[in-house]
Amino acid sequence: MNAATSSAPLTESAKTESVPEGKPVLAILTIDDDIQLFRGNRHNFADLIETGRELGYLAYVVTVRNLKLGRSRVLGYTYRREREVWVKGYFPKPHVVYNRIPQREDERLPRVRKKLMLISKYPGVKLFNRRFFNKWSLFQWLNKSKATQPYIPETKRLTEPQVLTSMLKRHSLLYLKPIRGKAGVGIMTVKTQPEKHLPYRLQIQNEKRSRTYRCSTLQKLWERIKAQTDALGEPYIAQQGIALASVNDRPFDLRALVQKNETGNWALTGIGARVAGNASITTHVPRGGEIDEPEKLLVSVFGRERAQQVLAQARNAALILARQIERSSKHRLGEMSMDLGVDTTGHVWFFEANSKPMKFDEPHIRRKSLERIFQYSQYLYGRLRQTKEGTVR
Ligand SMILES: Nc1ncnc2c1ncn2[C@@H]1O[C@H](COP(=O)(O)OP(=O)(O)O)[C@@H](O)[C@H]1O
Ligand SMILES: [Mg+2]
Repeated sequence: MNAATSSAPLTESAKTESVPEGKPVLAILTIDDDIQLFRGNRHNFADLIETGRELGYLAYVVTVRNLKLGRSRVLGYTYRREREVWVKGYFPKPHVVYNRIPQREDERLPRVRKKLMLISKYPGVKLFNRRFFNKWSLFQWLNKSKATQPYIPETKRLTEPQVLTSMLKRHSLLYLKPIRGKAGVGIMTVKTQPEKHLPYRLQIQNEKRSRTYRCSTLQKLWERIKAQTDALGEPYIAQQGIALASVNDRPFDLRALVQKNETGNWALTGIGARVAGNASITTHVPRGGEIDEPEKLLVSVFGRERAQQVLAQARNAALILARQIERSSKHRLGEMSMDLGVDTTGHVWFFEANSKPMKFDEPHIRRKSLERIFQYSQYLYGRLRQTKEGTVR
């Protein structure tokens, strides 16, 4: 582990960095931490600050506590790669604030919500990615539009046994997911096998492993599920299970990164693929999932020509979905990642979107994703200046 991830040796104060002419100052917003000073993926923050430097932008990390917009200088942190240290210092007030508070619980704290509200209303400052999404809202937003409906699996809130019964009448595979879940924790699948003595097969994925139960009746199935949802204390959705395309019996899905560009429009930064680990019901890398190339996987399933069509459909869907999500969320968004499935017929399905995307390991996507944050910030800065000059409200 190097200093970008360790608990931040703070050896000195940053020398005042000059503000480049005609360029916005970017603050990466996170939450303060008693021991580490600030939370979040320090590697990611360091990469962003350095990319900014290369492109001539000033970027720094700031905590909710330290971002005081009424002051002319802000206490923040920057990273020095040569010495592998985080350095504290005073920075100019930001024009653009990029919210990277890493945990939902932190973002829900009253003091944090209050601060985000203040920033969003503050003249001369543009905030983007104000909050986490949840899977139920995403479904409702995307179900409202004819353009996005074809991509979403049937989804209901799992509030009572009747929901399960009616969904199982229509789909022989269901995914049950916590609406605020992540990394596959608490995800269950239900499969009906009517010919079997115990016709309901329930698989539950927890922090470390997954367990399988077989139930004879819907009543028993419901009790098992209820025990699991109660233990997690999170509301769940029940979703039509998609028969994912697979290579060597290992299903895969696509991860798209969609970001706004220098014209303020949604653009696809890149698409990666994740192949499920053996016996895992999800494709997450920490669960044995592996990174692969979408094109290669799709060609091996569908052949060259159809693979191109599927990929084009996925790229197009990602942009349409992003637009609808932003419109419905009613907040300014600058980026999101998306989990998309491809079924055995080549149809593309939306599973979820994340407003705090994890870092993409594919180098070409990674580099572009860092640059785009500054390109979009530059666009926002242009809008700010127009507003000041009175041409745009
Ligand atoms: N309805 C579904 N049908 C088939 N596979 C699914 C479905 N929903 C989720 N999955 C699989 O499980 C993974 C995790 O689901 P996701 O909704 O992304 O939850 P998480 O927040 O835990 O990442 C997906 O990437 C996909 O591989
Ligand atoms: Mg996911």
